[in-house]
Amino acid sequence: MAVLLTGGAGFIGSHTALVLLEAGQDVVVYDNLSNASRESLTRVEHLTGRSLTFVEGDIRDTALMRQTLEAENIDSVIHFAGLKAVGESVSQPLAYYDNNVGGTLSLCQAMEAVGVKTLVFSSSATVYAESRNMPLAETAPTGRPTNPYGSSKLMIEWLLTDLQAADPSWSIALLRYFNPVGSHESGQIGEDPNGQPNNLLPFITQVGVGRLQELSVYGSDYPTADGTGVRDYIHVMDLAAGHLKALRYVAGQGGLYTWNLGTGRGYSVLEMIKAFEKISEKPLPYRLVDRRAGDIAECWADAGKADRELDWRAERGLEDIMRDAWRWQTDNPAGFGQA
Ligand code: NAD
Ligand code: UFG
Repeated sequence: MAVLLTGGAGFIGSHTALVLLEAGQDVVVYDNLSNASRESLTRVEHLTGRSLTFVEGDIRDTALMRQTLEAENIDSVIHFAGLKAVGESVSQPLAYYDNNVGGTLSLCQAMEAVGVKTLVFSSSATVYAESRNMPLAETAPTGRPTNPYGSSKLMIEWLLTDLQAADPSWSIALLRYFNPVGSHESGQIGEDPNGQPNNLLPFITQVGVGRLQELSVYGSDYPTADGTGVRDYIHVMDLAAGHLKALRYVAGQGGLYTWNLGTGRGYSVLEMIKAFEKISEKPLPYRLVDRRAGDIAECWADAGKADRELDWRAERGLEDIMRDAWRWQTDNPAGFGQA
């Protein structure tokens, strides 16, 4: 039996594929390569010394998905595939609802048709209502997301909750990620954003290698210790390990489970800059500018539930994050484009 990873060629999926292969699982990656390169998987195979099966396909292609689930003897699915750029989702809401919500519907229809009923889903802390009470536990209320990307994640959580309620033999994990960053310690695989990065850490490392001129720090008047935004940055290898534990916990169990995957501690933008400067041993040019629309002051996880139930906790700290992200960036200044 094998695990199918939708979107498994992307940032989080490729690191999870590596962790699963190392744990002895057979892995099938199903990806349309809309935001990824086949090269990431070649490197995963090289790093693990194991091979995986790659199927180029779209999750909205229900027939191909169904055929793949059967032909590859799949017993569980980890569902990473989707579009994830918050700003783009505001200008292209239909593409986001189609890909993320429509794609998940199609995936679940294919799974139901062949009787595969174990699913781990990539959700996000963005589903929580804005709150002044940190940390956020899984019991915190969900809100009305401020953008179509966030809405699509919440809609998918509803879809999966309704599906599991209707048929309790489904085993579903909703994993709410905080801010995934870093790369495999080899520096061979990592985050490879298209165009100018939206997220803080890839922006910092691209400024570090001189690909971008300076970092804009969005807002220095937040009610935080130094006035800049605070987030819970989780190393992607810790996140990947959380998927293996969640999959093992839910597989064949029946039920719907929600876990935060975060570290339980927040860092400000200025603390991130300092940590980067320490690792790269050079100053990072930055400028304090206005707040970015839609940003919140702070957000970090109560990671206790995953600790208690999954025996999972983040093991890597900020130095590991910076060291690994920097190694990936310096060894691959143009991402996978420079294979
Ligand atoms: P990514 O873009 O690197 O990976 C997503 C993968 O899905 C890509 O390989 C892309 O080619 C593929 N894909 C997209 N649409 C597809 C479709 N219709 N059919 C088949 N494949 C498709 O993103 P990531 O950072 O690895 O994120 C993975 C998941 O985690 C996403 O669902 C994302 O929304 C979620 N998430 C990410 C973050 C983050 O900050 N990176 C935070 C919270 C949640
Ligand atoms: N930031 C900057 N400059 C930049 C980029 C970011 O100062 O160039 C700041 C932001 O204002 C924020 C922090 O760095 O305070 C982190 O920003 P990111 O864009 O890296 O991450 P977000 O917390 O805004 O977004 C992340 C995911 C989204 C998800 C959201 C909520 O990228 O997918 O968390 O869960 F929706």
